[in-house]
Amino acid sequence: MTPSLQMEKSRIALPIGITLDRFIKSKQTEYPSAAGEFSQLLRDLALASKVVNREINKAGLVDIMGNIGQQNKGGDEQQKLDVLANIRFTRALSKGGEVAGIVSEETEDFIDLKNKGKYIVAIDPLDGSSNIDVNVSIGTIFSIFKRKSKVGQPLSKKDFLQKGDCQIAAGYILYGPSTMMVYTTGNGVNGFTYETTLGEYVLSHPDMKCKTTGTIYSMNEGLTSYIINKGITNYIALCKSRDYSGRYIGSLVADFHRNLLKGGIFLYPSCKKYPKGKLRLLFEANALAFIVEQAGGEASDGSKPILKIQPTQLHETTALFIGSKNMMKDLQKCINKN
Ligand code: AHG
Ligand code: MN
Ligand code: MN
Repeated sequence: MTPSLQMEKSRIALPIGITLDRFIKSKQTEYPSAAGEFSQLLRDLALASKVVNREINKAGLVDIMGNIGQQNKGGDEQQKLDVLANIRFTRALSKGGEVAGIVSEETEDFIDLKNKGKYIVAIDPLDGSSNIDVNVSIGTIFSIFKRKSKVGQPLSKKDFLQKGDCQIAAGYILYGPSTMMVYTTGNGVNGFTYETTLGEYVLSHPDMKCKTTGTIYSMNEGLTSYIINKGITNYIALCKSRDYSGRYIGSLVADFHRNLLKGGIFLYPSCKKYPKGKLRLLFEANALAFIVEQAGGEASDGSKPILKIQPTQLHETTALFIGSKNMMKDLQKCINKN
């Protein structure tokens, strides 16, 4: 083998892989009607996530930890990074011009960008924000819909109160030991890892599948005494009798991502403390439900699939059970028996 061929085959000359930009471009043909705009939207989200990633990495060094002394619509203490992430994503999407309106966990009402955009974005700019100050993984969750109103008309709540089934894309960014963007456009799920030195997301997890059965259950068991539905407590007992591992980070994106890769179930039931669940349908549940279904898993509120719920309020919450298909089936059996 010649020295140059040897070099080409060595580890240092390995190809970088497919970047997110190139991947998006290669998929453009799937959206013949609006290929360019939709691709640009995904790129805008990716760009904002890189900026947010940069801010998060500086947490501890500059004054961006802690809360700002104000609550969001859901009653959570807003953290400085919640607000900062909201600004970054909103700005990137506004400037991009493809998005007509944004609804965010951090703002009370939707924003009508009054442009010619065709898309609506629902976003949890920073998920798991109580973990920021302790350097634990956090995330961003987004859903993309087509607008219902005609281009040029003012947006109304109808544009935002769409069933999860109507999502045309959804994804999340996980700011962890490495930063990842995972998304679906309804043709499977793909995961990209951020290569910091290149400033690019690179395809690292093509066609992600959620194992049909896993051995991890994730729930805030501190809520056990508040749970009304005996079926849920019976299911937790079943998990324990089977020696499943309990794993709970308290950042939905991180808990979900681990279960997606390893097989598992995440449970946030409605309970006396949160009679309609804690997690938000528009900003959290819908996107992850779309992703999990695309990966072969399931998501429900205990009585129907998350994607079939008709939202009536922007900030409404839901019970959320999500993960491996067989585990979801066992849970449903416990709920039905009750
Ligand atoms: P957010 O930081 O966007 O408000 O979301 C927090 C959510 C979610 O990430 C997590 O799964 C859940 O709250 C944790 O709730 P508990 O502290 O009640 O377990
Ligand atoms: Mn959240
Ligand atoms: Mn949040």
